[in-house]
Amino acid sequence: MIRYTPKQRDLMRLWQHNELCRLNLLEGSVSSGKTWISLVLWAFWVKTMPQDGLYMMCAKSLTTLKRNCLLLLQDQVGENNFKFSLAAKEGYLFGRRILLEGANDARSESKIRGLTLQGAYCDELTQFPEDFFAMLLSRLRMPGAKLFATTNPDSPMHWLKTNYIDRADELDFLDVKFTIDDNTELDPEYVTNIKREYVGVYYDRFILGNWVLAEGIIYRDFADNTEDYLIDDPLTWCRENGDNIRRVVIGVDFGGTGSANKFQATGITDKLTVLALDEEYIDKAIDPDALNRRFSAFVERVAAVYGASQTRADSAEQILIRGFQNTAKRDRLPTTVLNAKKMEIHDRIKLTLLLMAQNRFYVCRKCEHLIDALSTAIYDPKRFDDTRLDDGTTDIDSLDAFEYCLEPFYEQLLKYGQKPYQSILR
Ligand SMILES: Nc1ncnc2c1ncn2[C@@H]1O[C@H](COP(=O)(O)OP(=O)(O)OP(=O)(O)O)[C@@H](O)[C@H]1O
Ligand SMILES: [Mg+2]
Repeated sequence: MIRYTPKQRDLMRLWQHNELCRLNLLEGSVSSGKTWISLVLWAFWVKTMPQDGLYMMCAKSLTTLKRNCLLLLQDQVGENNFKFSLAAKEGYLFGRRILLEGANDARSESKIRGLTLQGAYCDELTQFPEDFFAMLLSRLRMPGAKLFATTNPDSPMHWLKTNYIDRADELDFLDVKFTIDDNTELDPEYVTNIKREYVGVYYDRFILGNWVLAEGIIYRDFADNTEDYLIDDPLTWCRENGDNIRRVVIGVDFGGTGSANKFQATGITDKLTVLALDEEYIDKAIDPDALNRRFSAFVERVAAVYGASQTRADSAEQILIRGFQNTAKRDRLPTTVLNAKKMEIHDRIKLTLLLMAQNRFYVCRKCEHLIDALSTAIYDPKRFDDTRLDDGTTDIDSLDAFEYCLEPFYEQLLKYGQKPYQSILR
């Protein structure tokens, strides 16, 4: 039995009264019910449209599309009414053929170039390249063609905001705003928790649903209240807090021209708290042999106190990584040298801010470079896409090395609070 939230019912009423536009965007906070209702609407609408028309559903990637939309749609309309195959990149919804596409796949724009579409569905539209979206719109050439999309807000300079939302009047464009409190189907405790997971610009965007710029100091609370984040000795801290360092990761950022080599050791505890343990900052041109020796000494120093580690090193430097792997083997170092994942910067920032907001992040006082880097990191004032200033005036190397340490546990660290933590780090 389907039950709509009042906000969702309003939207269904627009459809019933034929008041939808050619382009229909559902935007706003996380968990506000956008995706859920957009799929219901999409299914109802497609069912009323020509059987021989061509339809398309797309997300950043096909896996995202499946995870966010296809499984839910199948749940909503039943497997008899919606079947899909990612391998074939197509599905059938009430007998209509639906093409499936990943907007960020290298050749995706050229693949949709020749099509004539009756309808399109876009998940998380701000993640699409603008040229893909423009091409998609030009493909909606059948009479009565429509597009349905959902998104969270981003920067006010984002192409979707300036070129579409701000021009809604000229464009046959319906823009419906959702906030988290519109989702009356959610458990209030869950809502309280999720509100606590976002701080700063992310709170404004993902909870309040506003298009705001990321500007100024990135780790505001750390910069203002640094002392609250510092500890003298991680092992003593663990004893006093009934916690235990479960994993040790050494993040490595290799220096290029004008940047430093940085080793950062980080501990992740049983309770999913992050402790910056030790660091080595090598601020000069150094030959590979000497760098290998410094790495060997650092791994031994960390192991003597905290035990075995994994190393995550900047994957852009495969030759240097090979050197570290050989050194680790030759010196029998208790570490495994692997590539860093190098996730997107805004995802890394989001995680660090979350850890700070939840009192799950502490830095050993001797990590002076990391402390300085976190206190001084700012958004690039000349850019509007959440870029960190990287002009040599701030210590990006220390931030990179630290973030490489967290990436292997990204999902677990982010989802803390939603699941019991005991079972997660195994
Ligand atoms: N009418 C409804 N009945 C039951 N559950 C609902 C309803 N609307 C939304 N939900 C549930 O609420 C949760 C959040 O909804 P949804 O995923 O649609 O939010 P969203 O706005 O797309 O969020 P995000 O911005 O994070 O993608 C989901 O678990 C969804 O199944
Ligand atoms: Mg969604």
